[in-house]
Amino acid sequence: NDFSYESGYIMALDSGTTSVRAVIVDEYGCIVAQASRPLKTTYPHSGWVEQDPMEILASQIAVMIEVQYKSGIHSDSIAAVGISNQRETTVVWDRESGQPIYNAIGWQCRRTAPIADALAAEGHADTIREKTGLTPDAYFSATKIAWILDNVSGARELAEAGRLVFGTIDTWLVYNLTGGLVHATDYTNASRTMLFNIHTLDWDDELLELLDIPRAMLPELHESASDYGRVSSEVMTHMPRIAGVAGDQQASLFGHCCFKPGETKNTYGTGCFMLMNTGDRVVESHQGLVSTIGIAEGGKVSYALEGSIFHAGSTIQWLRDKLGIISSARETADIASSRPDNGGCYLVPAFSGLGAPWWDSSARGLICGLTGASDRATIVRAACESMAYQSYDVLRAMEADAGVRLESLYVDGAASRNEFIMQFQADLLQIPIIQSESVETTALGAAYLAGLSVGFWEDREEIEQNRAVADRFDPKGDDEARARNLAGWHDAVSRTRGSL
Ligand code: G3P
Repeated sequence: NDFSYESGYIMALDSGTTSVRAVIVDEYGCIVAQASRPLKTTYPHSGWVEQDPMEILASQIAVMIEVQYKSGIHSDSIAAVGISNQRETTVVWDRESGQPIYNAIGWQCRRTAPIADALAAEGHADTIREKTGLTPDAYFSATKIAWILDNVSGARELAEAGRLVFGTIDTWLVYNLTGGLVHATDYTNASRTMLFNIHTLDWDDELLELLDIPRAMLPELHESASDYGRVSSEVMTHMPRIAGVAGDQQASLFGHCCFKPGETKNTYGTGCFMLMNTGDRVVESHQGLVSTIGIAEGGKVSYALEGSIFHAGSTIQWLRDKLGIISSARETADIASSRPDNGGCYLVPAFSGLGAPWWDSSARGLICGLTGASDRATIVRAACESMAYQSYDVLRAMEADAGVRLESLYVDGAASRNEFIMQFQADLLQIPIIQSESVETTALGAAYLAGLSVGFWEDREEIEQNRAVADRFDPKGDDEARARNLAGWHDAVSRTRGSL
């Protein structure tokens, strides 16, 4: 335990899909400094998504240095490092050279949909669901690892010789930041691979065999608040240990202090991810959600129900970068509210299929209901509304699965600052939306996990005292408009299905 009262801060790394961040958090849970860099994503073929693992690493180390330089808070004042990361994204590297043998295959990548479909067609869906809590899908890491082993020349032989290792982005960062000493992941990230048994908390040999993945490739498993090794002095001098690791959506659940069963959060990031803490109970979904590890801290595991929506903030990015009809995401709230309603126009961002609760790889995006009066604002409003409709579908599925009625929803992520979307969301769900003070709840969760692990904070109660609300959106009623909007949305969704 390296903590001393001179070490007054925690550093959290948030390695997201569109950007990487490093933040410095004080004992009150305030983010006192941050630095970030955007990341490139490439789309080599239709439905394929890749990132460069070396760019992720270089950018992450750069922001770790930059945040210290900007704040004047240096390594020796940092008690521990926490990591939260985009989940499922898969890297395979050579343990002798440390070099990735292929780009990182992104979580949104659909290239392995035929592998996932074959697993289901061969009758393995129930086994996969029982053991991992997941629906067989290209989203999770397992089929991505299998693809690399089968398609990168020489990979299978190297893997069988014990030379190759697999990691999600947390593992890739931990491995490199510790100078190659630690090859580990945490239960939350492991639970997104489709190779991890969420009941026994171990890699599952039957699934490994099914996908023909050698067990020796897989990282060691730890709970999220645990010792992941010291940051090597060859990377940066005087840095402390990495003491917390969690997938970003679970980190955000922790950052919101959703410690009690039933507490639910929605993060509006690249995608939208709603997680409900279900306590020590694995709630099996009959509504198109997945069961996953929610919190793994303090020697016990809480499970969660998750609804994963693949395109949320990325839809706004698409308006900016591909359609060129906005110059920044910030404009969208004003543009959307410049119209009294959606005029019957709906946008379904099924750019790479639909995730929860539909799980349809073959769905493709659609804008419908255009008239001669439709304009830029019509499309911007439809894009904003699409985040709220998708979240509505997931939340209703969650309530049905868990047999509870939610009383409020905690929100974070960039679009949680969009007042139009949040009010529209509250109106649609008819419950209050609670916006947390910090938009960086994910990084905060990683900081809390690392801080608990080294005794920087004593327990969850101490952390809960830092919980702060920035705003609250109460529902307003117009039942007729709500019913009309939902009917229009569901009609639009049905038209996207089976597009391939
Ligand atoms: O499952 C994917 C998720 O972890 C990505 O999160 O914040 O990068 O959209 P984000």
